[in-house]
Amino acid sequence: LRDAHRDPVERRLARCLSIDDLEERARRRVPAAVWDYVAGGSEAEVSLARNRAAYDRVELRPTTFGQVPEPSTATTILGRPAAAPVVLAPTGYTRLSHHTGERAVAASAAGAGLPYTLSTYATASAADVADASPGGRNWFQLYVMKDRAVTAEHVAQAREHGYEALMITVDTTVTGLKRKDVRNGFAIPPALTARTLAGLARHPGWVSNILTTEPLRFATFPEGSPYGRWGMSNELREQTLRPADVAGIKEQWGGPVVVKGILSVGDAVACVEAGADAVVLSNHGGRQLDRSPAPLELVAPVAEAVAKVSGTAEVYVDSGVRHGGDVVAALGLGARAVLVGRPYLYGLMVGGQRGVDKTLALLVAEMRRTMCLLGTPDVDSITGEHVRLRDS
Ligand code: FNR
Repeated sequence: LRDAHRDPVERRLARCLSIDDLEERARRRVPAAVWDYVAGGSEAEVSLARNRAAYDRVELRPTTFGQVPEPSTATTILGRPAAAPVVLAPTGYTRLSHHTGERAVAASAAGAGLPYTLSTYATASAADVADASPGGRNWFQLYVMKDRAVTAEHVAQAREHGYEALMITVDTTVTGLKRKDVRNGFAIPPALTARTLAGLARHPGWVSNILTTEPLRFATFPEGSPYGRWGMSNELREQTLRPADVAGIKEQWGGPVVVKGILSVGDAVACVEAGADAVVLSNHGGRQLDRSPAPLELVAPVAEAVAKVSGTAEVYVDSGVRHGGDVVAALGLGARAVLVGRPYLYGLMVGGQRGVDKTLALLVAEMRRTMCLLGTPDVDSITGEHVRLRDS
């Protein structure tokens, strides 16, 4: 143990007892502009705060004397086994958090037995990520482009490299305005401000790692393509997605399709009726429409409505999950699984792949401890009886 603790990464990680601890340490490890990009929310950040406030409303009600010494977190997601009801959410620009980027995250997810979703705005290619995560379950997140040939190319990449599902994100008609990003010059096109430069100067290790590894670009687009640099601009994305687009992409792909960014019962039902195999209730981690509801609060009504139109479609939820107890709460309200975004990025900032391993291990251990105390031996036994959302 002493040897392990001589390693600075192990030492840092050993001190983190929770995802909140990882977050606190992560903040010190990256330039301020990167921190703001990852941790921040849109506009006045009302939804960002609301996401956490919703989990604070959770009341867990044990139904036995807690005699479940070894509960199991194992489940199936899209019909295939997963070690826990947790999926790693797509995050653009992952290599800003740590130079090992998407490959490290996918490798960690594969090791933990959890699905990983690669963003359209990934800084590693679909091929490289697949190579880095043998035996893993990788999903590909699609931002549908106006130029459907570009989207067809993404679908082809996903197929060629063994990605198991497509996740279509539908909540990004325009990119939410993050005031800190604008002030930091973290925009398109990027502009280095004095504050940003000062922040970079404080993190020479981060700068040299980024500069001495591969160039920072959107690597899901062909090399030399303008999308590789500016693919994030609103004009390139399809801004009028309809359920018929979900049906069209599903037909083109032929495999499971997940629709992410749903915040209403009607939209969830429409997606499932159009052929979606799952929907993700999400406000994009409070980064898109500010003042949108906390997705956790929509789980019960959406799960109920979806079950009426499909016996198999799954409902996932993200935005604000920071503890295994949050996962248990989401399941009790009717979700099949949760997605996590920032929690694994914080782990990545603190310790590269080992940091992501730590995030995932914490979530599973916390989930087990919660289930043990709640008296639920497996994920199917977590029901509405165990979870209530208090009024305040
Ligand atoms: C995101 N998210 C996101 N979603 C998506 O569909 N495509 C993307 O490229 C990105 N990019 C992205 C970057 C960063 C830095 C963050 C933090 C988030 C949203 C993400 O998939 C997920 O919905 C949220 O992160 C969930 O909220 P938490 O877990 O971060 O609270």
